[in-house]
Amino acid sequence: MRICCIGAGYVGGPTMAMIAAKCPDIRVDVVDLNAERIAAWNSADLPVYEPGLDDLVVNARGKNLFFSTEVKQAIRDADIIFVSVNTPTKTFGVGAHKAADLRFIESVARTIAEVAETPKIIVEKSTIPVRTAEAIQTILASSEKGLKHQVLSNPEFLAEGTAVADLNAPDRILIGGEQTPGGLAAVETLVSVYAHWVPRERILTTNLWSSELSKLVANAFLAQRISSINSISALCEKTGADVDEVARAIGTDSRIGPKFLKSSVGFGGSCFQKDVLNLVYLCGHFGLPEVAAYWQQVIEMNDWQKHRFAERVLRTLFNTVTGKRIAVLGFAFKKDTNDTRESAAIYVCQDLLEERASLSIYDPKVTTAQMCTDLGIDPASPNVEFATSAEQAAQGAHALLVLTEWDEFRKLDFDAIYKSMVKPAWIFDGRSLLDHKKLREIGFKVYSIGKPLPTDQPA
Ligand SMILES: NC(=O)c1ccc[n+]([C@@H]2O[C@H](COP(=O)([O-])OP(=O)(O)OC[C@H]3O[C@@H](n4cnc5c(N)ncnc54)[C@H](O)[C@@H]3O)[C@@H](O)[C@H]2O)c1
Repeated sequence: MRICCIGAGYVGGPTMAMIAAKCPDIRVDVVDLNAERIAAWNSADLPVYEPGLDDLVVNARGKNLFFSTEVKQAIRDADIIFVSVNTPTKTFGVGAHKAADLRFIESVARTIAEVAETPKIIVEKSTIPVRTAEAIQTILASSEKGLKHQVLSNPEFLAEGTAVADLNAPDRILIGGEQTPGGLAAVETLVSVYAHWVPRERILTTNLWSSELSKLVANAFLAQRISSINSISALCEKTGADVDEVARAIGTDSRIGPKFLKSSVGFGGSCFQKDVLNLVYLCGHFGLPEVAAYWQQVIEMNDWQKHRFAERVLRTLFNTVTGKRIAVLGFAFKKDTNDTRESAAIYVCQDLLEERASLSIYDPKVTTAQMCTDLGIDPASPNVEFATSAEQAAQGAHALLVLTEWDEFRKLDFDAIYKSMVKPAWIFDGRSLLDHKKLREIGFKVYSIGKPLPTDQPA
C-alpha cells in the first residue's frame, strides 16, 4: 500500500511521520507546492517545531517517508491520498471573515481528477465545512475517466505543542464514509492503517457528514470553554474572587471536568477562531440565526479578552505607554510550538504599538521574520526590538508582559530582572504562569488575569 499526503504543514508533516513510523510496510510520500517547506522537511531544521518530531522524522525519512514537490506523481502512485491543505477563513466576497476558503481543497480535487489513473481513496484530513465531500465527489466525477474514487472524512484532532504524543496515543480516530459497500470498504482500508497502533475501540466510524461536522463541533466546544472561563476572569477581578480557585472548584465536578479551564489572554492558533466562524457561517447558511449568534459570542469574548489585556496595561501605566519600553515574553500562540497564527500576542502588541509603545519581544522558537510578518512591520522598525533572551527584553523596561506560557519563563532570575527595569516595575501575567507572591516580595507590581485587582491598580 502507498499513501500520499498533499500539504506538508503542521498537520500533514507530523501525521504522516507518525503513520510512517508505525507502518513500516507502507510507503508515505508527503508532497507540497511550497518548495522551501519541502526543502526544510528534508533538512536538519524542520519547518515545524514539536517536541519529539525531529526523532520521528529522522528515523523514517528516506526509508518509508519521503518529502517532495512531485504532487502529480505522488497522486498517481498512491492508493490512499490524504488532503491536508490549509482551509483558512475567506477574506473576500460572499462569507468573507466567516466561511472557509476552499480554493486549495478544490484545486487538489481537480488535480486528482486530472492525473489519477486508478481508483483512489481520498481522505479529507483538513478541517472543512460539512458536506465538502459532496463537492469533492462532484469534481472527481466530472473527470471523463470513469474511475470510482471514494472520499472519506478523517479529521485531525492533534493539538500543536503535543502533536507527537497526541498522534501516538489519540483519544480517538474518527473516520466517516459513504454508507455503501464501496464506502464501507474504503473505511475499513483506512481503519487497517490506524489499527497498526491505535486500539480498534478507539477508531470510530460514522457517516461522512457526522465526521465532517464533529471536527468543527469539537473545536467550538473547546473554544467555548476558554471563552467561558475568560468571561468569568473579568468578573473575578471585579469581585475579589480568584479565577484559578473558581476553575478548581468547578473542575472537580466530574460533569464539568478540569481541562480547558485555564483563563488567559485569549485563545489563538490557526483553528479555533476559523472553525467557530465556519460553524457560525454554516448555521446562518442553513437558516439558524440563533445558533449562529450563540457561537459567534465565543469569538467576541475572545477578542474582548485580548483587547482588555492591552487596555489594562495602558491604564495601569498611567494611561500612557508612548515611548515606554515594554517587554513581551512569548509570541507563539501557546508553548512548545513555533506557530503564531492568530496568537493573542499579535493583537496585544498591535494595540500597544497603536499607543506608540516601544516593544522588546522575546520568544524562544519564533523567528524575527515571522514576528515582523505578523505585526506588519519592517525588521528595522524603530518601535520594536527583537531580543535574544527574556533578560535582554526586560532591560530598561517599564513593564514585562507574559503572553505565552513557555516553561523557561518560570525559571527566570526575577531578582536580576527587577534590578534592570524602570521602577515601578510591572509584570502583567497573561497566562497565570509566575509565582506572584515571590514577585511582589522582590518589589514587582503584578497584574494577573482573573486575580483580585490590587488596590494600587485602576478599577
Ligand atoms: N494546525 C493544527 O493544529 C490543526 C489541527 C487539526 C486540523 N487542522 C487542519 O488541517 C489543515 C491543515 O492545517 P495546517 O496547520 O497543517 O496548515 P499549513 O498551512 O501549515 O499547511 C498546509 C500546506 O498545504 C500546502 N498546499 C496548499 N495547497 C496545495 C496544493 N494544491 N498542493 C500541494 N500543497 C498545497 C501549503 O503549501 C501548506 O504547506 C487545515 O484545514 C486545518 O484546519 C490543523
